[in-house]
Amino acid sequence: MIVLGIESSCDETAFALLKNGREVLNSKIASQSEQHALYGGVIPEMAAREHLRSLMPLFQETLSEAGLAADAIDLICVTQGPGLIGALLVGVSFAKGLANALAKPLVPVNHVHAHVHGALLGLAVRSEEVFPCLALVISGGHTNLYWMTGSTDFQLLAASIDDACGESFDKVAKLLGLGYPGGPLVEALANKGNANVVAMPRILDQRERMAFSYSGLKTHVRYLLAKENDKLSPERSWDICAAFQREAFDQIIRKLQTALTLHPTARSVLVSGGVAANSYFRNVLTDAISLPCYFPDLKYCSDNAAMIAAYGWHIYEGTNDLSRFHNFVWEAYSRYEETPIGK
Ligand code: KG4
Ligand code: ZN
Repeated sequence: MIVLGIESSCDETAFALLKNGREVLNSKIASQSEQHALYGGVIPEMAAREHLRSLMPLFQETLSEAGLAADAIDLICVTQGPGLIGALLVGVSFAKGLANALAKPLVPVNHVHAHVHGALLGLAVRSEEVFPCLALVISGGHTNLYWMTGSTDFQLLAASIDDACGESFDKVAKLLGLGYPGGPLVEALANKGNANVVAMPRILDQRERMAFSYSGLKTHVRYLLAKENDKLSPERSWDICAAFQREAFDQIIRKLQTALTLHPTARSVLVSGGVAANSYFRNVLTDAISLPCYFPDLKYCSDNAAMIAAYGWHIYEGTNDLSRFHNFVWEAYSRYEETPIGK
């Protein structure tokens, strides 16, 4: 079965072709980050217009590089939300038109859940070795921790009560005048600094509190920088980045350890989303957790369509009523309510 994935929720237009939902035949991404970098963040209307420009040529390139014609596609999967509504509407409208023209089923996909499938792509272990598991999505918009008993079963355990983890890296980068997206830039400075010489507040330290919080950490960095006035040396900024990075991830490790005591049957930890690219975090998490930790290949950490196709294929394969995928009467959504269990 040839599965097409389509992603347009933020500033990346992406297509991917997968065989049987697992083998990636081609994955293409047209990033707009250079255009948005001029403004220090994503401009929603500009993103929607860029998607409109990129979709058709990128779709044709994705097919021709894989040596396939459009009628080889058996299943289409598209990001339905959450994201920028104008950007989503462009991708969803394209997907509905394509599915209608090819008379193929169309699966609407939740972008945040799909990130987890980025960590599963190409994983050479059996599903029983992975599930049940704890799954972390750490991106520019989300810091979500899920309990998963199978590939389409998501139970939210914890989310951020304010900023997302990646968002706090972006804000700290902005305070330091580093540019956007800030995560890799802050990581590069942090890796040169000494985290022990700058104190950071331990946010939400209570072990039993299943939630994340990042705005206090970012505000603490803002005050530290304000105290330096114009005298901030490069070395001091590296130390501040190192201390910030350490606490940003220590918080996640503390919550994961609590979640593991609540779910002792977990067989693995899946980590996904743009922040999963952070190599410091990959090392400290693997040392701190005794279970196998799976991270996506770097090309599947940030937004891509392979994760959309993989997750959509699992949804399709797991449903008895396939007729619902031929009914295109559904909307895109910019936000969605997901309440942590027990709240
Ligand atoms: O998943 P993603 O590409 O887009 C969203 O759906 O948000 O995540 C982007 C986020 C940005 O906040 C970016 O700064 C962060 O991931 N990021 C990182 C690193 N690489 C990307 N954060 C920390 N360390 C990194 N190496
Ligand atoms: Zn994303």
